[in-house]
Amino acid sequence: GASVEVDISALKPGEKLTVEWRGKPVWVVRRTPEQLEALKALSAEMADPDSVRTAYPTPEYARNTPRSIKPEYLVVIGICTHLGCSPSDKFQAGPQPSLPDDWKGGFLCPCHGSTFDLAGRVFKNKPAPDNLEVPPHMYLSDTSILIG
Ligand code: FES
Repeated sequence: GASVEVDISALKPGEKLTVEWRGKPVWVVRRTPEQLEALKALSAEMADPDSVRTAYPTPEYARNTPRSIKPEYLVVIGICTHLGCSPSDKFQAGPQPSLPDDWKGGFLCPCHGSTFDLAGRVFKNKPAPDNLEVPPHMYLSDTSILIG
């Protein structure tokens, strides 16, 4: 399949952009230092904190806490690993409908309530069997990512 080049030069901290790759939405999220810091403390609440599950295998270079090549940027496929719904952004920390009071930001699948942190890691005891899929990707420059 065709690769897609993504220009991330205009992406600000705390923002997400979406591109299409092989008919799927791919999200690029630029995380703030606070959001990155929160990921470490969340690992104990994750079903697969080190991304070793194989339903949607995580590339070797993303088998780390932020699940990324460059910690600031998350690249994931925006499709729930349960039954394929589209999770919503819930980037803001703090109490929000259907989320815990200590929510640190991430994604919520509206279909059956799976929650994911800002590394796309699924929380424990949720229907989604795996973290959000990290597509194969690489950096062409500081401002350009090649997906696929
Ligand atoms: Fe996302 Fe079921 S499809 S929780």
